[in-house]
Amino acid sequence: MKILGIETSCDETGVAVYDPLGGILAEGLYSQLDLHARFGGVVPELASRDHVARLTPMIRDVLADAGMALNDLDGIAYTAGPGLVGALMVGGSLATGLAMGLGKRVIPVHHMEGHLLAAMLEEDPPSFPFVALLVSGGHSLLVETRGLGEYAILGETLDDAAGEAFDKVARMLSLPYPGGPALAALAEDGDPDAFRFPRPMLGKGLNFSFSGLKTAVRIALEQSLRNGDVLSEQLRADVAASFQAAAVETLVEKCLRACDETGLDRLVIAGGVGANVQLRQQLRARGRDRGITVYYPRQALCTDNGAMIALTGWHRRHEATESPAIIARPRWPLDELRPPPASAARLN
Ligand code: KG4
Ligand code: ZN
Repeated sequence: MKILGIETSCDETGVAVYDPLGGILAEGLYSQLDLHARFGGVVPELASRDHVARLTPMIRDVLADAGMALNDLDGIAYTAGPGLVGALMVGGSLATGLAMGLGKRVIPVHHMEGHLLAAMLEEDPPSFPFVALLVSGGHSLLVETRGLGEYAILGETLDDAAGEAFDKVARMLSLPYPGGPALAALAEDGDPDAFRFPRPMLGKGLNFSFSGLKTAVRIALEQSLRNGDVLSEQLRADVAASFQAAAVETLVEKCLRACDETGLDRLVIAGGVGANVQLRQQLRARGRDRGITVYYPRQALCTDNGAMIALTGWHRRHEATESPAIIARPRWPLDELRPPPASAARLN
């Protein structure tokens, strides 16, 4: 069964063909980073227009790479939300139009469920149940995942998402957007103990809060300037490393606590911040001490991509429809999703 996955929820155009027997048969990704960089963040209208320009040729290229024609597809999955509504409409319209024209079925997919399942594209996939940490530019969630569509939110951010905090602190350090990877690179040359930034809500529950940490960084930078320090390369690197240490420690502690509280010993990391090397190393080391196995998709599957949408489309194939209605839901809580009905087990 070959599913085409289309991702256009934000600033990446992602297309892939997934087959349960062969895995990812072909994929394409275009990041709009350069388009938005000079604005310091994603400009929704520009994002939509760029998806319009890229998507059709990318689908053609990906199918050619897979040695397939449109008619060889069994279904077309697209990101239906959450995301930027105009950007979602581009993928949704093309997927629905193609499916109607070809007489195929179309499958609307939840973007965060895509992130949640992405680790299953790897060689040693996690099995249910597990705790998932979903950390992206727009979300920070800890999810108790008992099965497909059985998601209980254990904790979430009360203010900024983890990626947003990385992006905002990176901006204070005059780093380019998106700040996460640039900040992590700068932090490599810094001392993580140079500043003792707060670890917000570390001892309390499973929710996150990053705005106090962000403010502490701003105050430290302002203080340094007031002291007459130049923002030397070393000082910037020390601030980056100290911020990263605080953010990573917070995420790691909450993940371990979530495993303790649920009694689960599998932890799956997903979303763009999951690409952070410090986070990956510390979770693996601390998890090992506690008998917790940590699963990560490779970095390219942590950030937005078409393969996770195609995979999720396959898992949700019972929801495939011939309806011409295009679904675009900018807000769509993950725990609204439901497990497949028992009758879906008969589908191949
Ligand atoms: O999942 P994603 O690609 O897009 C969303 O759905 O939001 O996540 C993007 C976020 C950005 O905030 C980016 O700065 C962050 O992930 N990010 C990182 C790293 N790579 C990407 N944050 C920290 N360290 C990284 N290495
Ligand atoms: Zn994402």
